[in-house]
Amino acid sequence: MNPSNLMKQLATLAMVTSAAATVGLAATAVQAAPAAKTIRVLSAAGVDAASPEAEIWKKAPATQVALQPAFPGHGSIVGTPVTERLTAQAVRAGDRLFVKLAWSDRSANTAIKDTVQFVDGAAVQFPINGKASTTPFMGDAKNPVNVWHWRADGLTENLVAKGFGTSTPVHFEGLKSAAVRTDSGWAVVLSRSLKVKPSEGVSLQGRASIPVAFAAWDGDNQERDGLKAVTLEWWQLKF
Ligand code: HEM
Repeated sequence: MNPSNLMKQLATLAMVTSAAATVGLAATAVQAAPAAKTIRVLSAAGVDAASPEAEIWKKAPATQVALQPAFPGHGSIVGTPVTERLTAQAVRAGDRLFVKLAWSDRSANTAIKDTVQFVDGAAVQFPINGKASTTPFMGDAKNPVNVWHWRADGLTENLVAKGFGTSTPVHFEGLKSAAVRTDSGWAVVLSRSLKVKPSEGVSLQGRASIPVAFAAWDGDNQERDGLKAVTLEWWQLKF
């Protein structure tokens, strides 16, 4: 075989091998993309799931959700949030979504006392455009988020945020909460109609799934605002 043919064949072989390697790499990269962490919504017509102690919560799938410290938003409010995980469940009954969160918290902090003690709290966050491309760090100027916020002093607020430092209450009667103390901490149900006006928050009507994020504050640890435990990535709520 003359040397130039040999060179040509070697070159072809090299090309094929690197192409194969690239394909192999691509395949592994595709394989490596982890499936979004999922919370299944139990569809249960005609039930009232407003109370954290409602029977239906014994049937709704429960998912353990790990929480991480939110990175400091305000330089002045720093510390280490203490809540490491929560259990999330969701029920769709008729035109309402009920989200139940339960987490450990030894002390019930239900009143803000001067500047040293804050209240326990929890929140559920959705991208208003329904897309996981929205940053889970409270959205941004072009991609706002809707946050359902419960506080142990009885405050339930519907917020819209376009990045942290911008959360703004948007009054909406239809957002409800109910909370109980459990043996180890709190159980809270936040519920809302699936359909709302665009200015009122995220529309959940007719969705097969939607990204969702969570936050928890321990008032006893002086947690408030950006000092909290959160999911640093979106989970998927699957209807
Ligand atoms: C790493 C991610 C996050 C950072 C750095 C962050 C930072 C902040 C900061 C600086 C504030 C105070 C200013 C403001 O009111 O906007 C704040 C408030 C708030 N954030 Fe976040 N946040 C993050 C993720 C989340 C998530 C995932 C949720 C909900 C699931 C959430 C819910 C809230 C709520 C409800 C407030 C108002 C708290 C209050 O007024 O008591 N945040 N956040």
